[in-house]
Amino acid sequence: MSQPCVSSIIGTGSYMPEKVLTNDDLSKIVDTSDEWITTRTGIKERRIAADDQATSDLASEAARRAMANAGVTAEEIDLIVCATVTPDMFFPSTACIVQRKIGAGRAVCFDISAACSGFVYALQVARHFLNAGTRQTALVIGAEKLSSLVNWQDRNTCVLFGDGAGAVVIRATDAADAPGRVLSTVMGSDGNLVDLLKVPGGGSACPVTPQNIDQRLNTVHMEGRETFKHAVTRMSAAAEEALKLAGLTKDDISLVIPHQANARIITAIADRLGLPEEKTFMNLHKYGNTSAATIPVALDEAHHEGRLKPGDVVLLVAFGGGFTWAASVLRW
Ligand SMILES: CC(C)(COP(=O)(O)OP(=O)(O)OC[C@H]1O[C@@H](n2cnc3c(N)ncnc32)[C@H](O)[C@@H]1OP(=O)(O)O)[C@@H](O)C(=O)NCCC(=O)NCCS
Repeated sequence: MSQPCVSSIIGTGSYMPEKVLTNDDLSKIVDTSDEWITTRTGIKERRIAADDQATSDLASEAARRAMANAGVTAEEIDLIVCATVTPDMFFPSTACIVQRKIGAGRAVCFDISAACSGFVYALQVARHFLNAGTRQTALVIGAEKLSSLVNWQDRNTCVLFGDGAGAVVIRATDAADAPGRVLSTVMGSDGNLVDLLKVPGGGSACPVTPQNIDQRLNTVHMEGRETFKHAVTRMSAAAEEALKLAGLTKDDISLVIPHQANARIITAIADRLGLPEEKTFMNLHKYGNTSAATIPVALDEAHHEGRLKPGDVVLLVAFGGGFTWAASVLRW
């Protein structure tokens, strides 16, 4: 191949841990109720990884399933980009640990930290390698074990999150009309708002000490209402911008796959874009917010449910801590 210029998704996969934690289960741990969680978020249950399952285990299984779906072997993978805010450890990267677990010995591996926007960021980074012709076949993974980062005594946050992983295989091609191709991507960040959604402790600014752990500084802290407003504004704007960049309009959209944080956020975005409910994919009732994993898991489910037809225009749109946001338009 002389001049690769297009990156095409050729396979999807996901893995959700077996253990289900329902809203009723949570109401036995904190002062909450199924009614509150359902009406405020749309979430009914979430998956929780086993004690001996790390993020790399979830990621590796999603990666294996994506490779099987694409019909590629681990030896063909020459790039692994893993988006996560719950890496197995500070270093080495979770992508390197996945490399060992799946046996992708030829791959260059690194992680992306962009919170819930991580998968779309990772897809864009991998796409640059492929479009430049320096890599051929990449695994792009979004994987999280958020149960390890949640304060299980804080009802404001613990009801929202869950564990899981999704992955895609993307390949460089010189076929301008290749199915699964990425047509456009927009990304943005606003570091002035870092304090609205963060894990303040555990890093170099606030290292692990018994006192910091007592204060639960090593867990998720969020200003929910503010985050909600920014999420709606930024995701709607990013979606419109990505469509414009692709030379398309909202009427061309077959399916929106938004970050799965809150059903009310998703409905507000669909309203702003003027899209009917059936064009908006939602699975957060089953999984809650799995951060970087929500979009690749949803993409995989939509794929296997037959909701993606050849030629369909699919819009991915994400928002997360940082704040960060991103949107990508695909032609399936
Ligand atoms: C977190 C979120 C669900 C809260 O919903 P909300 O409608 O904004 O609720 P509020 O923050 O106004 O809280 C309302 C009340 O419910 C209470 N509450 C919070 N969590 C509760 C829970 N799990 N169960 C019962 N009550 C709860 C609050 O204490 C508050 O009580 P008060 O009025 O007596 O102070 C919502 O703000 C949200 O989804 N934000 C965005 C989250 C997000 O997307 N994060 C990730 C971005 S990637």
